[in-house]
Amino acid sequence: MRVAVYPGSFDPTTNGHLDIIKRTSKLCDKLIVAVLENPSKVPMFSVEERVAHLNEILKDCSNVEVKSFSGLLVDFVKSVNANVVIRGLRGVTDFSYEFQMALTNKSLDREIETLFISADTQYLFFSSSQVKEIAIFGGDIDNMVPEIIKKEISKKLKEE
Ligand code: COA
Repeated sequence: MRVAVYPGSFDPTTNGHLDIIKRTSKLCDKLIVAVLENPSKVPMFSVEERVAHLNEILKDCSNVEVKSFSGLLVDFVKSVNANVVIRGLRGVTDFSYEFQMALTNKSLDREIETLFISADTQYLFFSSSQVKEIAIFGGDIDNMVPEIIKKEISKKLKEE
């Protein structure tokens, strides 16, 4: 069985992430979306909330599973019996960072391959941080995130 892992912070999940997940899930038997507990970022949503959002968004995708992880990505990949890491590329700015990360992971475990998928042109220009910033200042994020994320962001902003 070909199992791939798509890791990221997903704080929050955007339509760009969703596009990569849907396209990649057709290329493997099972895709594990792995939500990172990332100590270097201050999140808007807890890991549990991010996993819950993804589970709701992906409830109709039968070969996609959502899990969280902390620590090294290569250790997580091994623990779920996968050997492919999926990363989306939005352009040359992503490339040097992603290339370095792929080589680092390769040096940690030679059995694990990184597969890059080019982002769709309509999702090239934004990130999760930008989505949050636009929402905080009352801008329109309708085309950037799934409906459930829009609702969750607005709920979170009202709590603050
Ligand atoms: N569409 C829209 N936005 C996208 C996107 C897409 N297709 N692909 C990436 N992004 C954005 C994300 O929204 C995120 O935005 P933000 O920085 O504003 O939050 C940004 O690009 C970074 O992407 P993300 O996929 O969340 O990666 P990351 O840099 O937070 O984490 C990991 C990458 C999880 C793969 C990496 O940190 C990791 O493996 N960590 C574990 C520790 C480890 O193993 N380290 C050694 C290897 S280097």
